[in-house]
Amino acid sequence: MSAPSPLQTANRGLALDGVALADVAREFATPAYVYSAAEMTARWRAFDQAFGEQAHLVCYAVKACSNVAVLRLFAQLGGGFDIVSGGELERVLRAGGNPARVVFSGVGKQRDEIERALAAGIRCFNVESASELDAIESVARDQGRVAPFALRINPDVDAGTHAHVTTGLEANKFGVAAEEAAALYRRAAGNNMLEAVGVSCHIGSQITSLKPFTEAFRRVAAFARELEQGGIRLRQIDLGGGLGVAYGDERPPAPAEYVAQLLAAIGDCPGDLPWEVVIEPGRALVADAGMLLTRVVYLKETKRRNFAIVDAAMNDLLRPALYGAHHPVVAVAPDGKVEAKHYDVVGPVCESADVIANDCTLRVREGDLLAVLAAGAYGFSMAGSYNSRPRPAEVLIRDGKARLIRARETLSDLMAGEL
Ligand code: LLP
Repeated sequence: MSAPSPLQTANRGLALDGVALADVAREFATPAYVYSAAEMTARWRAFDQAFGEQAHLVCYAVKACSNVAVLRLFAQLGGGFDIVSGGELERVLRAGGNPARVVFSGVGKQRDEIERALAAGIRCFNVESASELDAIESVARDQGRVAPFALRINPDVDAGTHAHVTTGLEANKFGVAAEEAAALYRRAAGNNMLEAVGVSCHIGSQITSLKPFTEAFRRVAAFARELEQGGIRLRQIDLGGGLGVAYGDERPPAPAEYVAQLLAAIGDCPGDLPWEVVIEPGRALVADAGMLLTRVVYLKETKRRNFAIVDAAMNDLLRPALYGAHHPVVAVAPDGKVEAKHYDVVGPVCESADVIANDCTLRVREGDLLAVLAAGAYGFSMAGSYNSRPRPAEVLIRDGKARLIRARETLSDLMAGEL
């Protein structure tokens, strides 16, 4: 398994962008998420530049890694944001993100969230039901502000990914079928508080083949053209996120390949599309830019398995327990004198689901550091405090320096608000 590109091997063990992980652990303790600003920047630019002259906007899916410092980095690059809650909107605003570059997705937007987003002047509500469109209309009328919207089309395409993160099938709760969407656009056309600015879709996550994307994008573009023939003029087509990364031996397309294919799927002559193209990548921007740094507490050998019990657990990184996801685990400073053994790397939480990674070959002793790789996406953002474990610190490596971007939770943070 090859390590992600920002990782280097130095004489004192692994380093991220030139900063020794042993030093990061000494300064900020473990468990800690550690991110590379350089890698996030490079990934964002790869998507952005792939569009060439085509009008476009890369809207980072905030849920993948929502730290304000990370959002600020993407805002400074000129990016937009895909949000799914009022909380994510406040994070984007705090990070200095431009609300005019924010699209708001999600099936259950509540009235207060719609109010705040409309007042802030977001670019577009990606609407997922007739009732939601009514709610947005009602808020718009109260505020005397026209609400920009797109319907999220459910293209009924199988993304070929884990069932938990498949969103573009008819049986999923997401989006609106094309026929219903057409009727809703016609209804909204007669309403002076609603402005149809585009169409949108998002078919799932960790998609490693171009085929489902191509199929979905063709359908959505054909739908947009039909709408325009019916007299409904649109400014943008939002194709969602979902591009996968390599956690193991997957071979996902590079951002440039994905964008080229996307443009080919929606237009006969790319560069000459009638719409601005919006995409909402999350994972592909941040997964490989982050890792979870953890320390081995105990080694435990049983008749059947060897366990490396670490100070990180399923509350810190939920993906293995929830999806059976695989993350490569490497020793930060492996000692050649230590025998290599197979370990299940597990945490202290009282559940057998509390696995960080099974079957890792490691040269480790108690007290050694391990790096859980490709953990920048849906790592900290899905962390919780189960077993009353404070959430870990987050550290960003930028310009050769490690900076704390979120303090480790304290025990009083843990109980704050409890009466
Ligand atoms: N846009 C919308 C409307 C979404 O729902 C999502 C992700 C994205 C964009 C970004 O997708 P990405 O490019 O990151 O695949 N927790 C799961 C992934 C859940 C994805 C949810 N929606 C995991 O850890 O694999």
